[in-house]
Amino acid sequence: MSTPSPRVAVLGGHGKTGRAVADSLRARDAEVVSIGRAEWPSLKAALDGCSAVYVIAPNFHLDESGYVAEAVDAAGGADVSRLVYHSVASPYLPAMPHHLGKAEGEAVVRRSGRDWTILQPCAYAQNLLPGLLADEPAIRVPYDVDLPHALVDLADVAEVAATMLLEDGHVGATYELGGPLVTVREAAESAAEVMGRTVAVERVDPDEWEREAGAALPEHKRVGLRAMFDYYDDHGFLAANRVAGLLLGRPPRSMADVIARAWAQAGGQSTSPRDS
Ligand SMILES: NC(=O)c1ccc[n+]([C@@H]2O[C@H](COP(=O)([O-])OP(=O)(O)OC[C@H]3O[C@@H](n4cnc5c(N)ncnc54)[C@H](OP(=O)(O)O)[C@@H]3O)[C@@H](O)[C@H]2O)c1
Repeated sequence: MSTPSPRVAVLGGHGKTGRAVADSLRARDAEVVSIGRAEWPSLKAALDGCSAVYVIAPNFHLDESGYVAEAVDAAGGADVSRLVYHSVASPYLPAMPHHLGKAEGEAVVRRSGRDWTILQPCAYAQNLLPGLLADEPAIRVPYDVDLPHALVDLADVAEVAATMLLEDGHVGATYELGGPLVTVREAAESAAEVMGRTVAVERVDPDEWEREAGAALPEHKRVGLRAMFDYYDDHGFLAANRVAGLLLGRPPRSMADVIARAWAQAGGQSTSPRDS
């Protein structure tokens, strides 16, 4: 008789992160229950029969610890023993209110009584792709383009998440997940090399961002993003990359790797000598 596939719930499962985690789980033959806004009212019923739950809060949630507490209660009610929380690198950063929400979410998870694990990913390498793959490739960001960021491949994060959800040995662990350090200017240079195209790089004035692109956002998102950009402008965003390598059993993908993969998926021919 064959072993039944493990059933794993992914809260926030229809979003960018959730879809990547669901793909990694399915690649390992797990059955995935994706939960978004529509399924949230019947959360406990949706968790019934699951062996694990991955908790991803919506971006810039105004009450992340409340969202996590509801997830923890439902996991307890449905007797789901394993709970993995998608936090962020450096959650206790008072300069970034949405990071503090994740620090509070972590505190809820640590008191949950579940077999918990916390992942703390850095910003995703994928965040820079829309501009790079545009008709006129460019990265225009409201922060310094010459400070380092430990941008991590979302597919690497998802692969680690699937390991946490399906394998034993990580109860009570908190893992910071970054990729190799890269500046925005270096990311643009890698993209130019891979695509054989000119890629513009520009630090947009953050006040201008707030008046223009930021103006369309709800206030809490605009304020949260501005705080994040100001932090990046002063410090970049650093995180460990050795941990991801240990968990993946190989080095985490670099920004250049992520660009080359996305360019190939978009049907482009790489012009980089290292790919030939
Ligand atoms: N982007 C990064 O670089 C980065 C790095 C580290 C950590 N993170 C964290 O990753 C998390 C997910 O980001 P993402 O970009 O993947 O998010 P996303 O694509 O916006 O997806 C969020 C999901 O949350 C669901 N949702 C929204 N409001 C909800 C509510 N009130 N109740 C229940 N579900 C709700 C949505 O479900 P429906 O589809 O049903 O509407 C959506 O699928 C965020 O917490 C972010 O801080 C992001």
